[in-house]
Parts: sequence; C-alpha cells; structure tokens
Amino acid sequence: MATIVETTDAAVVTPPPVKQVKMLIDGEWCDAASGKTFATLNPATEEVIAEVAEGDAEDVERAVAAARRAFESGPWPDLDARDRGQLLYRLADLIEENLEELAALETLDNGKPIRDSRAADLPLVIDCFRYYAGWADKIHGDTVPIRGDYFCYTRREPLGVAGQIIPWNFPLLMAAWKFAPALAAGCTVVMKPAEQTPLTCLRLGELMIEAGFPPGVVNIVPGYGPTAGAAVVKHPGIDKVAFTGHTETAKAIMRDAAATLKRLTFELGGKSPNVVFADADLDAAVAGSEFGLFFNQGQCCTAGSRLFVERSVHDQFVEKMLDRAQGRRLGNPFDLETTQGPQVDKAQFDKILDYVQKGDDAGAKRLTGGERHGDKGFFVEPTIFTDVTDDMPIAREEIFGPVMCILPFDDVDEVVRRGNDTFYGLAAAVWTKDVQKAHHLAHSLRAGTVWVNCYDVFDAAAPFGGFKMSGIGRELGEAALANYTELKTVTMSLG
Ligand code: NAI
Ligand code: MG
Repeated sequence: MATIVETTDAAVVTPPPVKQVKMLIDGEWCDAASGKTFATLNPATEEVIAEVAEGDAEDVERAVAAARRAFESGPWPDLDARDRGQLLYRLADLIEENLEELAALETLDNGKPIRDSRAADLPLVIDCFRYYAGWADKIHGDTVPIRGDYFCYTRREPLGVAGQIIPWNFPLLMAAWKFAPALAAGCTVVMKPAEQTPLTCLRLGELMIEAGFPPGVVNIVPGYGPTAGAAVVKHPGIDKVAFTGHTETAKAIMRDAAATLKRLTFELGGKSPNVVFADADLDAAVAGSEFGLFFNQGQCCTAGSRLFVERSVHDQFVEKMLDRAQGRRLGNPFDLETTQGPQVDKAQFDKILDYVQKGDDAGAKRLTGGERHGDKGFFVEPTIFTDVTDDMPIAREEIFGPVMCILPFDDVDEVVRRGNDTFYGLAAAVWTKDVQKAHHLAHSLRAGTVWVNCYDVFDAAAPFGGFKMSGIGRELGEAALANYTELKTVTMSLG
C-alpha cells in the first residue's frame, strides 16, 4: 500500500490570536449567566485553543428579549430597506479586510486546510453577504386583481426573530447562509454556533457590531445543542428556526418546535449519488469525484458518497482514483501544501473508523486507507472501498468522512433506480458527454441539486436544499428570502 504524502514546512501560516470568547447579547459581550465556559479544541493537535462562554436557557432568554426589542422597536424596524443592505455591504467589506485572520481562525478551530479556508470558505462568505445586501431593497409584494371594487396587494414583511442553529463543517459559511437572508429581510437573529467551532462566528459578531448593526439585531449564544440549542427551539419569542445538521437532530427540533408551531427550515444529511458514465472525460470525472468526496475531509452534506461507475470503465477509474487518494497531503492544516486536515473532533473520528470496520465486516474490499494517520490529531487516511453493494451500511448511511464507496453499474435505468434508493435527496452528479443522458439523469434523480460534469459548485444566487429527508426549504438565492418573510394580504374597499 502506498503511503500518504507527508507535507513539508515550506510555507506555514501562523495561527491567529483569539479575540472573542464571550457571547453577544444586545450589543454587549458578556459571560454566561451561569459563569460556565467550555473548551474548543484544535483538532490537529487535540489541544485546547480557548474557553468560550457556555450559553444555556437563561442566556437564550436574554438574547430573545433583546432580539424581540430590536425587532419591535428601535432603529431596526425604522431603517430603510436600502440602509439594511448598506450594513450588509459594509460587513462584507470588513470580512474582506480581515480575510486572512478569519481564514486562519477557521483553520485553527475546525482543522480544515488553510488553502481551503482562504480560497473557498471566505470568498463564499463575502459573496453571500454581498448577494443578500443587494436583495434588501428588492423584496416586493404584488397587486392582486381580485373580484369586486377592491384594491388588493401583498406585502412581504420580516418574519420576526429567527433562531439559527448551525454545524461545524463550514462554521463561518453556515453563519453567512443564515444571517445574510434573515438580516436582508429585516429579521433579528439569535444564533447558536456549533460547540466544536464557535470562534469565527464570535469574531464575525465583532465585525457586525463594527459594521453598525444596532444592539439586539444580532445575538450569538455559543453552547451545546440539548441546552442552548433546545432553548432556542422551544422559546415562544422565536418565530422561526433554521437548522443545519443531522437528520435525527432535525426530528428532535421538529418535536420541540411543535408546541409553538415555529416555521422550520432544515438542511440535513445526504448520501448523494455521483454517476460516472463510460463516455465521460475520465480524468475530469476522477478529479471531480475526488473533490466531491474528500473535500473538507469528507465532512460535506453533499459528499458524493455513493460513486456509481459504469462497469466498462470501473477498473480504470478505480486505478486512477487510488493514485489520487494516495497523493492527498495530510498534515498540519496551516501548511499551504496540505490538502487534508483532521476530522473535527473525536466523536466524528470514532464514527468514521467505526464505519470502516462495518465496511470490512460486510465484505467490501478496502483498497486503501481506513486507519488513523499519525498519533496526534483526528486524522483519518483517505479511504476507498470497492465491491460495495447497495445494502451495506457504508452505502446507505452518512459517514461524513474521507471514505469513498465505489459501485459498478450497467445501464441508465438501473443507476437512476439505485441512485434514488435512499431516504436522502440532497445532491447528485452526472459525468457524461452525452447531453441526453445528462438531462435525463438531471431530471430523474430526486435531489435538490444536480451537478453535471462538475461537483460542489456553490453560488449565493443558486438555491440549495434537500428533497426527502435531506431537508425542508431552500437556502441561498431568492428562495431563501421566503424563509424570513411572512406574506400579508391587504384588501381595501374602493366603494
Ligand atoms: P448535530 O445535528 O448534533 O449538530 C448540529 C447543530 O445542532 C449544533 O450546533 C448542535 O449544538 C445543535 N444541536 C444538537 N442537538 C440539538 C438539539 N436537541 N436542539 C437544538 N440544537 C441541537 O450534528 P453533530 O452531532 O455535530 O454531527 C453528527 C452528524 O450529523 C455528522 O456525523 C453528520 O453525519 C451530520 N451532520 C450534517 C451536517 C450537514 O451539513 N448537513 C453538518 C454537521 C453534521
Ligand atoms: Mg474547535
């Protein structure tokens, strides 16, 4: 078995200082009411980076009160829509000015390679705030031609206070996807970042205050899911919850939200089919499929984790993929050469190695990887399984790690059927030069996003979300504005 390339220390970025570890409530940085803190770790070294204020119900109570005040009175509801947009533009500029620091902070807290935080996360964050800044003054109602002598029109009013609960795989980007449309629409926010990765969201909070968002418009309460997160979900002062994370967590949130009938949008897991036809540009398909699975240490909801390859090119594809997997550079995420960092925490690391074991036990062929890399940090070797069948746990359940499952197929109808045989429906991809086949699959695969001859192409303007148990509602694009507005109908007698 070839060994994974070790990185050199040719160009290593220095970890940044941690500037903010408190919670943001009503424009003030404060400790938890309980005085408790929790540690956030550097997953590459397993060392504690900082102790962060640990929010719970009492802190959420204060944050909701501040957000309600800011929504109902004060400068926020009086602000012209265009001026809300200006604040978002100003925030985007501040993020751009602090790009290097934020990228390094993301790498420190999450473990993702600095080259990814710089080139992928941060540019997408900035773009997201600019995109929604432009929407703030373009959220229109309609005039409606009803029967009778009436003037009828609709208004799209801000929904109220949004509770936003985000995961750790793209900490700052998930914060941007949530904050930007909510603020553009005129909502106020109580944000609960993931306990593994609170630091960039807190630093973003500082930049939001600097940009000029009035007190209470943005509140950030770090803490754990069952405490701080559940308090957000249950609070009657919160009108809507937007959540990204595990499908099982979404079910718990739905139950907890039932008592107050909150609006819910969910962006959840996946087991996305990535289909490579024999007529595809094979090198492009190999490179795109490597990216589609191994990017972000495999911690992507869209990961192309069921890789269907047409039988006639299967062996050739596998050989090329093996080369690429073994050429990935694992190591210090601050090294500019590193392409794969550690998994985010011990729980994820253990879960992934457990799935590797399940793959072995089920009789799949482990071609490479599947072991811990090094003796410090949560590094998992890039792993490829072949001889995978559709019923194996590794082919059905979300692994959320650098574990690729390659499955051969023989014809179009078969691959559509097998591709759709899952309760997930987040994403899919097709690699082919045949336009008919490409469109046929794009239409037949039950997924919120289908990529053709590319993978993980994201843009703030393109709606994103899941069919089936991969989610409810859409983020990004114009579609996300609907998550943060209520439609009001006004009917006036002209008689
Ligand atoms: P999780 O769903 O538990 O955590 C996501 C967020 O939800 C965190 O902020 C957490 O504190 C919060 N949360 C947890 N329980 C909650 C509750 N009862 N009420 C309110 N908020 C709650 O996911 P976790 O445990 O971090 O990861 C487990 C698995 O979930 C991963 O292995 C992966 O399969 C999946 N996942 C999917 C993501 C996606 O992008 N769709 C992102 C992160 C995880
Ligand atoms: Mg951390």
